[in-house]
Amino acid sequence: MCGIIGYVGHQQALPILIEGLKKLEYRGYDSSGVGIICLDEPKIMIRKCEGKICNLQELLKTHGLPESTIGISHTRWATHGVPSRVNAHPHSDCSGKILVVHNGIIENYQELKSVLVKKGHKFLSQTDTEVIAHLIEEHSEKDFLTAVQKTIRQLRGAFALGVIHSDHPETLIAARIGSPLIIGLGKNENFIASDVPAILDRTAKVIYLKDGELALLRKNLVQVYTFAGKSVRPKIDQVSFTVGSVHKEGFAHFMLKEIHEQPNVLTQMFSSRIKGFQIHLEGLQLTDAELKGFDQMMIVACGTAYHAGLVGKYIIEKLAGISVAVDVSSEFRYRSPIITPKTLILAISQSGETADTLAAVKEAKAKGAKIISICNVLGSSLARESDGVLYTHAGPEIGVASTKAYTAQLAMLYLLALKLSRVRKKISRKTSQELIKDLKEIPSLYQRILKHTQSISRIGHDNAHFGCFLFLGRNLNFPSALEGALKLKEISYIPAEGYAAGEMKHGPIALIDEYRAVVCIAVQSDTYEKMISNIEEIRSRRGKIIAIATEGDDSIKERVHEVIYIPSTNPLLTPLLVALPLQLIAYSIATKRGCDVDQPRNLAKSVTVE
Ligand code: G6P
Repeated sequence: MCGIIGYVGHQQALPILIEGLKKLEYRGYDSSGVGIICLDEPKIMIRKCEGKICNLQELLKTHGLPESTIGISHTRWATHGVPSRVNAHPHSDCSGKILVVHNGIIENYQELKSVLVKKGHKFLSQTDTEVIAHLIEEHSEKDFLTAVQKTIRQLRGAFALGVIHSDHPETLIAARIGSPLIIGLGKNENFIASDVPAILDRTAKVIYLKDGELALLRKNLVQVYTFAGKSVRPKIDQVSFTVGSVHKEGFAHFMLKEIHEQPNVLTQMFSSRIKGFQIHLEGLQLTDAELKGFDQMMIVACGTAYHAGLVGKYIIEKLAGISVAVDVSSEFRYRSPIITPKTLILAISQSGETADTLAAVKEAKAKGAKIISICNVLGSSLARESDGVLYTHAGPEIGVASTKAYTAQLAMLYLLALKLSRVRKKISRKTSQELIKDLKEIPSLYQRILKHTQSISRIGHDNAHFGCFLFLGRNLNFPSALEGALKLKEISYIPAEGYAAGEMKHGPIALIDEYRAVVCIAVQSDTYEKMISNIEEIRSRRGKIIAIATEGDDSIKERVHEVIYIPSTNPLLTPLLVALPLQLIAYSIATKRGCDVDQPRNLAKSVTVE
């Protein structure tokens, strides 16, 4: 996590740094800071504070910084040390000449710190980052570049760094291993940033720094080296994408806006990916023969994307007859998965920067697997690591709790499952065509659900006082239950658990009494009767039941306290529909409780540490 932006050039650094930082706030927002070199003296000067970047902007109004054309800045998601001014970056050394911003974790920082403390270094923060500044100071008898190089070779873990030094006011040094960092090339100016959109309105010419590379930047020079010191000729990319609109457009929150964007996202996806009854998966880079050749798939993802992957398992196994394993990325790496030449790895990630997912992909790649990904952010690290990419093109998702990216991932999984099933001849042409027809109806069914936003919000508001929620679903709506619970806990901080309804009797039923609310996904399906039995079991124990049911199911009203209806569709597609009321329930409960739904506490949109 954490966002880094650095600048060296001919313009005033501060506005560039703050503007870039705002675009990186999705990576963490518990504190932020900026450091520049005051060129008159020269000396380093910093401003940092706890909380969001708007706090830093306020601070700068009263405690401004002198003009400077070089600086680094940072928005933090705490790993080592509480969110506070002292722990905010940049961090400095004892001489007060060196400034460091860092994203990632220095795993051996304790042992390095002990040695440095023995040598007399004084530490101010609890961060792992501060050791970097002191280590560079230790090596300062060498030139700046060599001192940073020597330091980096002593660090273990994953990191991206930006470093400046007041004795070298024309130089910015950057390095990365594991955590992302890019270099933006301008005219008489150069940038470093955690991702491309942070600098895209300044330059579209970028170098994607590779793992184990270090760069020296001056206003009219960029030199790249390996950590071992070997000079490297970097590849310069011209970014061809633009960053879409990031305004609330009259909605109270980005999350609500993004919920309402879902009909459009799917309409656009289907119009570009479905021609007649043919599915077009440009970007997949796999021939039909290759698609026929795989005998197992492994899906890796985190958070909401993992839940999309779980739905994917149900539909790919059902439609295409391929066995699918789904792992949270952080577990996949460490469980010795059995990967053969016939294994296809599918990574799902909105940001394409999630450290665990990237690590899982690298692990699978090293074992010779073919990697495809479903990703939203163009040009992301995951996209670059994958053999083929299916972009969801859902547009920028700003709300930390994923909504439109989730349903776009689901929609893409349906398209992939349909493609696989046709190539492998697992379902008839007629069945496939019917399903495609139903799929294309989903955006208009979304419109119908969204017309009920107010009544769904009323249900959320009326139940916002419950201290614990259980979400139950069966079959392919079991992952929907997991996602519903995740959405609620992410933004309202209410403990919420998702469970397979059939598993309820093996534990969660102990929770149920009149003080618990249970959201039951009871849409028409093969398992409807079984779900109704579970509802009866909850009723007998006086649990408060909110059901999500299919229009026309009047009888369910007698069994539950509240019903939210979704339109009727092919049962296989119901996860796409139930997602919306689940998002709206979470949103309305969280807003009723006064929570910051777009930037919930402790979370970040892109999780770039393992
Ligand atoms: C974070 C976000 C979640 C997201 C997860 C995976 O935890 O808060 O909303 O689902 O990361 O992110 P990715 O970008 O890989 O989909």
